[in-house]
Amino acid sequence: MTDPVPDTSTETADLSAQLTGSAEVEALSKRAVDLREQLRYHNYRYSVLSEPLISDSEYDALFDELDAIEKAHPELVTPDSPTQRVGSDLDERLPKVTHLAPTLSLAKAYSEAEIRSWVDRVLKVSDTTAKLSYTVEPKFDGLTVVITYTDGVLTLGATRGDGFVGDDVTANIRTVRTVPLRIPIDPNAAVPKPPAKFVVRGEVIIHKQDFKAFQEKMRGEGDEVRYVNARNTASGALKQLDARITSTRPLTMYAFGIVYADPDSDLPRGQYATLQYLEALGFRVSRDIRYFDDLETMIKYIKDFESRRHDLDFEIDGLVIKIDSHQMYESLGVVGKNPRGALAYKFPPEEVSTKLIGVTVNVGRTGVLIPNAELEPVFVSGATIRQATLNNFDDVKRKDVRIGDRVMIKRAGEVIPFVIGPILAARTGDEQEILPPTECPVCHSPVIHKEGEVHYFCSNPECPERVARSIEYFAARGLMDIDGLGSKGVRQLLDAGLIKDEADLFALTADKLESLEGYAETKIQNLLKNLEAAKHRPLDRVVMSLGIPGVGSTVARLLIKYFPSLEKLRAATLEQLDAIPGVGESTAQTVIDWFAQPRSSRLVDKLIAAGVQTEGEEVAPQSTLLAGLTFVLTGTLPTMTRDDAAALIEANGGKVSGSVSKKTSYVVAGESAGSKLDKATELGVKVIDEDGLKALLTNGDSAT
Ligand code: IVH
Repeated sequence: MTDPVPDTSTETADLSAQLTGSAEVEALSKRAVDLREQLRYHNYRYSVLSEPLISDSEYDALFDELDAIEKAHPELVTPDSPTQRVGSDLDERLPKVTHLAPTLSLAKAYSEAEIRSWVDRVLKVSDTTAKLSYTVEPKFDGLTVVITYTDGVLTLGATRGDGFVGDDVTANIRTVRTVPLRIPIDPNAAVPKPPAKFVVRGEVIIHKQDFKAFQEKMRGEGDEVRYVNARNTASGALKQLDARITSTRPLTMYAFGIVYADPDSDLPRGQYATLQYLEALGFRVSRDIRYFDDLETMIKYIKDFESRRHDLDFEIDGLVIKIDSHQMYESLGVVGKNPRGALAYKFPPEEVSTKLIGVTVNVGRTGVLIPNAELEPVFVSGATIRQATLNNFDDVKRKDVRIGDRVMIKRAGEVIPFVIGPILAARTGDEQEILPPTECPVCHSPVIHKEGEVHYFCSNPECPERVARSIEYFAARGLMDIDGLGSKGVRQLLDAGLIKDEADLFALTADKLESLEGYAETKIQNLLKNLEAAKHRPLDRVVMSLGIPGVGSTVARLLIKYFPSLEKLRAATLEQLDAIPGVGESTAQTVIDWFAQPRSSRLVDKLIAAGVQTEGEEVAPQSTLLAGLTFVLTGTLPTMTRDDAAALIEANGGKVSGSVSKKTSYVVAGESAGSKLDKATELGVKVIDEDGLKALLTNGDSAT
């Protein structure tokens, strides 16, 4: 299904422009026509089809632009402008229900200043000197439902529709386990009975965990691609014509208000008490609702909450602030389509859509090939993003991402941006499949891919990119510790032909370095001094710095205990290595394979010849930079393997654990981080990315 985005370029926005005659107004008028057309179309995709082509924040930006034009030039407002009505998500296939009270929407604020000016307006309009009190609740990102109880029994469930008329989805709502079919759920509960006619509003959502599990299940059935986003899945589920399908979707409802109750019923008079009452009746209510009678405390809470948004087990796009007193809320009335007594404070968006314009492939030290998406630049979570990781070619295939696709990308917390998936509905047919390379993009050697494995590898141990990364690794802090030699320096030396491998570093001289750009006397002397010092690293460090897969500090120490020189280690047989307690068969095999490569053997010879310490039982005193810290690694990091990261952490006195608990100090998350990341957010464990880890490896943990 490919509805083309409407082309509005031929439309002319006429009347008001002719009236004023000003070129500026004419331009604004044209823009307004264009924006209205776009908004109408995107609203239809979002609300009716549950298949949006752009992110909510992009929609909001278009809407806000139109709203600003119309506010500045009221003469441009048209009766059918999207600003003039509550959006509609009516679905023609479903029967209709007229709401007892219209379902309005919320005015938005994006900053503290906007919250304050809303409060000022409220004070002015209500003409009160009394202190205001507020209830703050999460702004759920799901689908609004309106549920009617007659004599305590659920009799009707509807969507918001256009605010006045909604779709009748009673059968579907009945399948949602958190929606009570009868209230109070506990007939003996000591709560005031709801009146004969009682209408509750809430939001149907899918919890993050449930959504993951659902995607997993759909993946098993080969039908994962359509379920990219929890909100749209929830909305699609609720509008099914067959409630049996709805019942297989992990929907949850959170109640957030009473829309109608028979007159004279004795119900709570404030929003906070209302939520408590709903909970007592048996509805699910958010744990994160707070009551404030002080503006400053509330603003502080809202600011703090932003950094905790990932801790919630469902997606929110902001917080809703409501004047707590129902009486005051009512008396404040409605402005346009928004009640004046409530405000949605929106967080900066983390998900946006953009076009995937190409794919580059990064080559890692081990030869691993990581696809990287080149994007049309977009601004998300405070940064302009041009690239996002595609993780691995298995993922690309599973998600069916193609070049030319509009894709959703996410930048959550401190985690590097990644491609969530393509927006299938935006396909034109011109997209190109992304295939795993058959040759290394750098050295053009054949690619290796073992059946059943996720990753593809460059087969050439001498690949220039792999060599460069190996040398960077060798020089890294906690390994050979060659201070002042980072990624840039290594590449400069390689490009100038001054080195070909790690051992060549020790043959550098002042004469050779002088020719390089940026190398002044002090820098040269420092580097030479650091290289001299690196020759005397303890043997376990030397073994680790070779970069043998799976050989971190623990394994390196075990190996040299039994084979206390590089010569002896190189001569060890598979049986001998396998016999070392604590060294498994697969690690033993990797060690054998590594030494069997001509490049490795040559390197060992050259290191010995260069005077690097390659003998002795001396092990490094543990660096204590990360002592006392426990790390959990998850997902794919942009430049390091998880083994490398673990080795560096251990070399600096940190511990690496396989599972997240309250004792975990940091979760290092890369692309496609899974349940460990969820667990971390659930427990409030700090999450960092590869750069965050590198910062810790340089500066230690400032918190300890
Ligand atoms: S109160 C006058 N409270 O946000 C409308 N709405 O723009 C009163 N929403 O579609 C709404 N969480 O479904 C309210 N805690 C919350 C909410 C919430 C999400 C949705 C609501 C509506 C939209 C309003």
